[in-house]
Amino acid sequence: MRVCVVGGTGNISTSIVRLLLEEGHEVCVYNRGQRPGLPDGVRHLPGDRQERADFEAAMQAERFDAAIDMICYNPDDARSTLRAFRDVGHLIFTSTVCTYGVEYDWLPVTEDHPLRPITPYGTNKAAAERVFLEAHYRDDFPVTIIRPSTTFGPRWPMLRQLDCNANPSWIDRVRKGKPIVVCGDGRALHQWLYVDDAALAYVNVLGRERCFGRTYNMTRPEFGTWEEYHHIAMRVIGREVEMVGVPLSTLLAVGAPALGTCTSIFSHNTIYSPARLMRDVPEFRPRVPLEDALGRVLEAMDREGRIPDSDQSDWEDRLIAAQRRVGELELGL
Ligand SMILES: NC(=O)c1ccc[n+]([C@@H]2O[C@H](COP(=O)([O-])OP(=O)(O)OC[C@H]3O[C@@H](n4cnc5c(N)ncnc54)[C@H](OP(=O)(O)O)[C@@H]3O)[C@@H](O)[C@H]2O)c1
Repeated sequence: MRVCVVGGTGNISTSIVRLLLEEGHEVCVYNRGQRPGLPDGVRHLPGDRQERADFEAAMQAERFDAAIDMICYNPDDARSTLRAFRDVGHLIFTSTVCTYGVEYDWLPVTEDHPLRPITPYGTNKAAAERVFLEAHYRDDFPVTIIRPSTTFGPRWPMLRQLDCNANPSWIDRVRKGKPIVVCGDGRALHQWLYVDDAALAYVNVLGRERCFGRTYNMTRPEFGTWEEYHHIAMRVIGREVEMVGVPLSTLLAVGAPALGTCTSIFSHNTIYSPARLMRDVPEFRPRVPLEDALGRVLEAMDREGRIPDSDQSDWEDRLIAAQRRVGELELGL
């Protein structure tokens, strides 16, 4: 198939592009060309999708059998994508499980669960989904919506329960034997999917008519607590340190840095069912164990010098010292 990936050099889409090539597809990527690492054999179509007229004209000048939109975030983006790919044989829209919010009526969350997003990101993705589904029901537009949960790879830092995108120095903390903060008791439930496993879903959904007009959660079926995750991550890092629980309300009150994802997702029990995806796309069988996946991320971070020195910041040490004083007070009551 002749496939266009809007994005293509990002966290998830890098793996999608690689697998598309391996499976013999003809691959084009549309992006601004700001990130290295495009494999040989991929045609780069340079541009910024926010320059809507240029983006749509560039896509209309080509003929694609399928398109995968990785960077569509709101209804305006969605309408632009529909104009850009109005003749395409199959469009995959990347949404998010953040469309559900965190107040669940049942677990694991299935695709028919009500959407109650709590962030602008989730609200805008849900609105973009509606644009695509309207086009499907009105004009028979061949779209499939994929809602990833946490999907990580070597282009991201090694995750922890607190948001570490801005500063992944926690790895250096562990290496130096310093304790780390977890949110609450660290036992919120979560699922972690490796990018190469995500690519199995994207590449094998392409052209499957039974997936047109359908929405799919994309995650591993297995789940675990963040405490378990941190133990595995520390095994990969090579040192075990103490985890010190701090309530979310305290983390927010003291202004702990970059709490974003922790507040809106990682402090909650978030379990989504991938059963529908595994039924309709049987090739989607996640196979990279979490420990191996984290090892690949750590290896990339070390190689690229992406692990900051934890001695440059002391907020976590101060917070742990304060939390321990609270613990002592409680013991004295
Ligand atoms: N990873 C997760 O846990 C997770 C969970 C839920 C949903 N998602 C969804 O997954 C998608 C992210 O996919 P990803 O990880 O592959 O992407 P990513 O890491 O965010 O990478 C973005 C890609 O898009 C390109 N790009 C960014 N802005 C652009 C623009 N204005 N015009 C053209 N190209 C642009 C980038 O290249 P240039 O910078 O060179 O342009 C790059 O190729 C998002 O839709 C996100 O909502 C991810």
